[in-house]
Amino acid sequence: MKGPDSLLYEVKKKLDIGPPPVQLLDTLDLDGIVNFIKAGKCKNIITMVGAGISTSAGIPDFRSPVTGLYDNLEKYHLPYPEAMFDLEYFQKNPEPFFSLAKEIWPGIFKPTPCHYFIKMLHNKGLLLRHYTQNIDTLEIQSGLDPEKLVEAHGSFRTAHCLVCKKEYSKEVMEDKVLAGVIPRCEIPECNGIIKPDIVFFGDTLPKKFAECVEEDFGKCDLLIIMGTSLVVQPFASLSHRVPTNTPRLYINLEKTGTEGVSFSFIFFKGGFKFNDKDNYRDVFWQGTCDEGCFTLTEKLGWKEELTRVVKEGHAKIYKEMSLLKSKNVRFQKVKGAENRRGNLGKTHTDSGTTTPKSKGK
Ligand code: OAD
Ligand code: ZN
Repeated sequence: MKGPDSLLYEVKKKLDIGPPPVQLLDTLDLDGIVNFIKAGKCKNIITMVGAGISTSAGIPDFRSPVTGLYDNLEKYHLPYPEAMFDLEYFQKNPEPFFSLAKEIWPGIFKPTPCHYFIKMLHNKGLLLRHYTQNIDTLEIQSGLDPEKLVEAHGSFRTAHCLVCKKEYSKEVMEDKVLAGVIPRCEIPECNGIIKPDIVFFGDTLPKKFAECVEEDFGKCDLLIIMGTSLVVQPFASLSHRVPTNTPRLYINLEKTGTEGVSFSFIFFKGGFKFNDKDNYRDVFWQGTCDEGCFTLTEKLGWKEELTRVVKEGHAKIYKEMSLLKSKNVRFQKVKGAENRRGNLGKTHTDSGTTTPKSKGK
């Protein structure tokens, strides 16, 4: 990826060449962020998220112990967990990936309150862009304008033959994947494996990612990061690209991969200063993304609106689900993640985690 990833850019930032930083928040906590938003000091919010925003919908994340996907891959006999998404490995042995794809094939999942919070930011004219690492398409399900969305790690919506690059639709793939057949190119002399356009290790990120990063990050006046371990590059280092004074809020169950003094931390992890005495803009809020969004909206006076938006959104999805049920789509509970991670059932909305698992059976 081109642009300010260059070493010179990183070194200049690290050496603090330029005017001294200014603290824009009254206090370095959630109240400071709330006052900042209430005072109308931000109009270009960027949200950056990972799998942790979808665990309460019943979709496991990758790295959480016990419930994370990488702790549950024994049955695929992979040489190492990330091989599941490794291009080189996939070309030699696509079966494990397609078995998993069958399990996690996007159907009608219910977006979480956190997804609807992001949509609300857009409705209020405050969202510059939403960057997601997720391939579950819950942002689209929540009704977020696709123009505002950057799917950094691609999606299942399209697929390409690895050999001749012919494009295939999700619908063509769906029948094969759900039938347990490895999808192959229909051009007889080609017969290449068709791979969904989700980004594997070794793949290039979508063009829109590079374009939007260049366009957006210099304008960002509040960065909100949620539900990601910030360990996969180049996504993780985006947090370092906002202007020096821009406040950064990180909502996550744990403060992973963001502090320390290693080389990779200095140059690629965004240099968060949550606990440093010279912190002037970084706020960490520990807890679930849903709780974080509800707490934030409560303090902003938007909680009732969020509760209503979630209710309406879920009602619409239930309606679509019952339509599909009448067409004989089978629904099944997704086990695991929600037990430890979800809070949907607690206070704010119902806790359904039913998702279509396969169709036509
Ligand atoms: P990870 O599984 O690495 O991190 C998810 C983070 O969310 C962890 O820090 C969890 O503690 C936290 N978390 C889980 N549930 C939460 C909840 N309800 N509320 C708040 N926090 C919660 O997932 P990602 O950071 O998304 O890439 O992983 C990045 C990339 O690694 C993925 O896009 C995928 C993977 O390899 C590819 O497949 C290319
Ligand atoms: Zn082909």
